[in-house]
Amino acid sequence: MNVQKLQAEIDSYRMCTPMSSELQEKAARYLPGGSSRGTAYFDPYPHFVSEGKGSYIYDVDGNKYLDFMINATSLILGHAHPDISAVVKDQIDLGAAYSGPTTSQIDLAEILCSRIPSVDTIRFTNSGTEATMMAIRAARKYTDKEKIVKIEGGYHGSHEYVSVSVYTPAHKLNPAGPTAVPEYGGQPINVSNEVFVVEYNDAIGMLDILESNSDDIACVIMEPVISSFGYTPASKDYLETVRSKTRELGIVLIFDEVQSFRLSSGGAQEYFGVVPDMTALGKIIGGGLAVGAFGGKREIMDCFNPTDGGAEIAHAGTFNANPITMRAGMVVMQHLTPDVYSQINNLGEELRAKLSAVFSELNITTQITGIGSFFGIHFTENEISNYRDVITTDPTVKKAFFLGMLNEGILLNGLSGSLNIFSTTENINELASAVRRVAIRLFK
Ligand SMILES: Cc1ncc(COP(=O)(O)O)c(C=O)c1O
Repeated sequence: MNVQKLQAEIDSYRMCTPMSSELQEKAARYLPGGSSRGTAYFDPYPHFVSEGKGSYIYDVDGNKYLDFMINATSLILGHAHPDISAVVKDQIDLGAAYSGPTTSQIDLAEILCSRIPSVDTIRFTNSGTEATMMAIRAARKYTDKEKIVKIEGGYHGSHEYVSVSVYTPAHKLNPAGPTAVPEYGGQPINVSNEVFVVEYNDAIGMLDILESNSDDIACVIMEPVISSFGYTPASKDYLETVRSKTRELGIVLIFDEVQSFRLSSGGAQEYFGVVPDMTALGKIIGGGLAVGAFGGKREIMDCFNPTDGGAEIAHAGTFNANPITMRAGMVVMQHLTPDVYSQINNLGEELRAKLSAVFSELNITTQITGIGSFFGIHFTENEISNYRDVITTDPTVKKAFFLGMLNEGILLNGLSGSLNIFSTTENINELASAVRRVAIRLFK
């Protein structure tokens, strides 16, 4: 693909979004690059959103987009679901947040504990970042060990110890295999010294690190379905190997299910039948409001127990378990029945099959990844198994394709996405037709 094709997509996008362009200029006066959130920015500038309804969002220039980004998979009931609006409005009038607990946190905790195999008890936070941070802290306290193991290219939020080897550019990767690469200049070297980085789906590499350093490793944190690789599931064998080795060596296994929890009523751990010691959650469990949670075995979580002499790990949070979020989250859980999971996951399968069919008909080499209601598109010959496979996609192609889809009225999350409960076969056909048109524009 030549760069003129990318430029043509940028020009079309600019033509349709003059007001967003102006707002970006204004925003840049007060926010660095006009942005408060890395993933909300894209070049040349993001479209500013005015409204969301069901599967669609609208921008300030009046463009309508079929939304497969749905705020980074969090809006599994779509935008502005009336049941969510109703409880939020009701709770606002009763008070947004109090310093004391409410019954709503028991309700959401009860349903999450009953659904997720690894979760005996749970604590709520306001983000997935806090959830993974506190889960790691609990694992360190429980094991009295310091080091952590994470996957190369795995994202677990923006706190320090997981800000290692996340978006490592190709030229910084050690050809001999994963090493801990700081995410930013000036990061204390002690941080990456505390982190072992392993390749996804590489059981031998994982076992080697675990066995050689078991006296120092507190936990392994990983996604059973890794979001940043277009929702590539780990192989079941790999997960089982990691599970049994961590158990044998006294290492806490943390599944980051901030995204993968939508796979089944008990998350990816139920889907694969592999139960970790701790689980981090976020996204869908807050009904579209800021949320996170972490939970696990009672004996590990007990370090947060404030009764009986006080908690061993202090964990506060002004808005933790606030009743608006708890009630919105409860609405989501009530909507996610076994039938709904089947429907949305079957639709995901249909979507991936249709994308594969489009590319094979056009003779364009791609890898379509995903599971359940997730999908990812990769313009590479490499079957996607780890980070090094993912980054073989040419960034210019990625950018052009994303903008091309936007110009077709389809919003993706990079080149991946997920469905919501209102997604239909017609939506999928619309996506597949747009993919076809953009692929022809860019590659033919
Ligand atoms: C797998 C995973 N873990 C953790 C996080 C962090 O969650 P939050 O953005 O709510 O801090 C994210 C966010 O995208 C995520 O995808």
